[in-house]
Amino acid sequence: MKIAGFVGSLRKAAYSGVVMDMLIELAPEGMEIERLTIGDLPLYNEDLKEDGSPAKVLALAEAVRQADGVLIVTPEYNRSFSGVLKNALDWISTEPGMPFSGKPTAIVSQSPGMRGGALANYHLRQTLSVIGAAILTGPEAAVANSGDLVVDGRIDDARTRKRLSKELDALAEAIHRAA
Ligand SMILES: Cc1cc2nc3c(=O)[nH]c(=O)nc-3n(C[C@H](O)[C@H](O)[C@H](O)COP(=O)(O)O)c2cc1C
Repeated sequence: MKIAGFVGSLRKAAYSGVVMDMLIELAPEGMEIERLTIGDLPLYNEDLKEDGSPAKVLALAEAVRQADGVLIVTPEYNRSFSGVLKNALDWISTEPGMPFSGKPTAIVSQSPGMRGGALANYHLRQTLSVIGAAILTGPEAAVANSGDLVVDGRIDDARTRKRLSKELDALAEAIHRAA
């Protein structure tokens, strides 16, 4: 079961990256999560598609097409998800065959604040629904107080790990149902 992983923050010590590392560690038997690189994409510009899309965009779109599911970790910026993530989703959405179409997709937001980026989580659902992703329903996975939970670049908090393990199980179940 191959999962295309997106992290919506570029900073080296990003809490979003730490959350993704934890998810990779918690992946159930048979699930492989690959973190894709989105930080080196140009800003979306249709002119850049004139002679064919940039190679990095083609590779990303293909990685999504080939994946059985998608996992996205996003921070919250001004009550939405990050621009770097939106840019990647916009690029991929313009590639043939609607790469996200029907892909079981799990969203995890995180924030050092007490709502865990819940508004970014819902804003991301809006965009993903337009590009055809099969978004996991149910209570949102939102990691609150991430700045306190991250110690030495990892999260060992048992409650958070249990909650996110459940999210991965739900993603695996959705993939089985879709197969
Ligand atoms: C431009 C900007 C806007 C932000 N807006 C919000 C916000 O609306 N809600 C929130 O909880 N945190 C907000 N934050 C704080 C981020 O949640 C915090 O910087 C977080 O650590 C970013 O995620 P990262 O660690 O993965 O980079 C904002 C930060 C920036 C830089």
